[in-house]
Amino acid sequence: MFWVDEQNSGSRTITSSNNDDTQEILAYFTRSYCKNKRGTEMEEKILVTGGAGYIGSHTVVQLLEAGLSVVVFDNLSNSSRAVIDRISKLTGSKSLDFIEGDIRDRTAVRHALRDQKISAVVHFAGLKAVGESETEPLKYYDNNVSGSVVLLEEMMKTDINTIVFSSSATVYGNPEYSQYHEDTPPAPANVYGRTKLIVEDILRDLKKSQPSWRIALLRYFNPVGAHDSGLIGENPKGIPNNLMPFIAQVAVGVRQKLSVYGNDYPTPDGTGLRDYIHVEDLAAGHLATLQYLKIKPTLLTLNLGTGQSYSVLDIIKAFEKASGKAIPYEVVGRREGDLAEYYADPSLAEKILGWKAQLGIDRMCADTWRWKKNNPAGYSNIK
Ligand code: NAD
Ligand code: UFG
Repeated sequence: MFWVDEQNSGSRTITSSNNDDTQEILAYFTRSYCKNKRGTEMEEKILVTGGAGYIGSHTVVQLLEAGLSVVVFDNLSNSSRAVIDRISKLTGSKSLDFIEGDIRDRTAVRHALRDQKISAVVHFAGLKAVGESETEPLKYYDNNVSGSVVLLEEMMKTDINTIVFSSSATVYGNPEYSQYHEDTPPAPANVYGRTKLIVEDILRDLKKSQPSWRIALLRYFNPVGAHDSGLIGENPKGIPNNLMPFIAQVAVGVRQKLSVYGNDYPTPDGTGLRDYIHVEDLAAGHLATLQYLKIKPTLLTLNLGTGQSYSVLDIIKAFEKASGKAIPYEVVGRREGDLAEYYADPSLAEKILGWKAQLGIDRMCADTWRWKKNNPAGYSNIK
């Protein structure tokens, strides 16, 4: 098997047949990704849909720091324009553009792809509230599925064939085992998860019909944490659905106490176990994926998690340690649809990309706390 770097070094051909070589190749591309022969920056421009959101904004910072140009395309339905200013401040980069637009708006997507001379797309844009997806399914199918189809059709027309898609561990549903491997048959148990699986299926079909496409389906486990500058972080609107942002709001005094959803699960302390992954590790996974797709026209399906799970009580304790604040909580009934435990088998991502999550639970809590302490109202008080 041989891989050719078609876009970067032009003539370089790399012969490889095993994963040790992958490490070497990735190291080469990490060094040379953005440089041409004279050592100046290449015109690599990435369109990041949903780039003003939580995971998107952290990924944009790392893309800019790697020397890439970025166009954020976001309708700001769950984010703020202030994020873009924060990213500019953080990186000092002049290579960031922002387009306020909706992925379902064909003309806007076409202009963004064509006018900006985009080489690859990282597709975060989507709605993600599981409960809302059950009560407003059409909103989710329209936004997440129809929006993705419009984006892909316009990519096809503009000959852009590299895409990294934000999928989710939710696609697995409720399998027999708690450790999810990429081969675990997907069977999502809610509308949100089904929208993710449908887009995965669309991309798999696209790859079959257009073998030159370079596609990654990244299944995130539970993203938490924030950039260590305290300038960007998760900024949920209304009452947070998820554990870490809720705890952060309790710590900062916005909410009185946390409801722990059940302590009668078959787990060591009775509360739910999850694979929490630092958003900075997740962002690094996207950069590694883009680098890999650049050298290999393939379709990747990868878990991005740590492989380790923590209980709700573990997270409360770690957050109290990081913040020095007590987190009052009350145990209430189980939340419908919750599972006792699940976590990633992250070994395939390490084998293929050479990527592995580095940051532990203490860093996840410390960085979340720094962000929340510095921005108790999130971005809402920032012009
Ligand atoms: P987020 O809501 O913070 O970011 C999503 C961004 O997409 C927002 O800025 C929103 O304004 C934008 N957006 C939504 N619909 C759009 C549309 N039609 N056109 C243009 N922009 C649109 O969410 P996040 O946590 O950063 O998640 C990013 C992606 O990762 C989502 O696709 C989500 O489903 C997926 N994901 C998230 C998690 C998680 O727990 N955070 C877990 C697994 C997968
Ligand atoms: N929990 C509480 N109280 C809360 C919130 C959560 O006890 O106020 C518990 C839950 O019962 C669960 C754990 O904390 O045991 C984690 O819950 P989250 O809501 O933070 O995360 P989930 O695992 O339920 O789901 C999240 C996202 C999904 C995404 C999935 C990826 O909500 O969209 O992670 O694995 F797909």
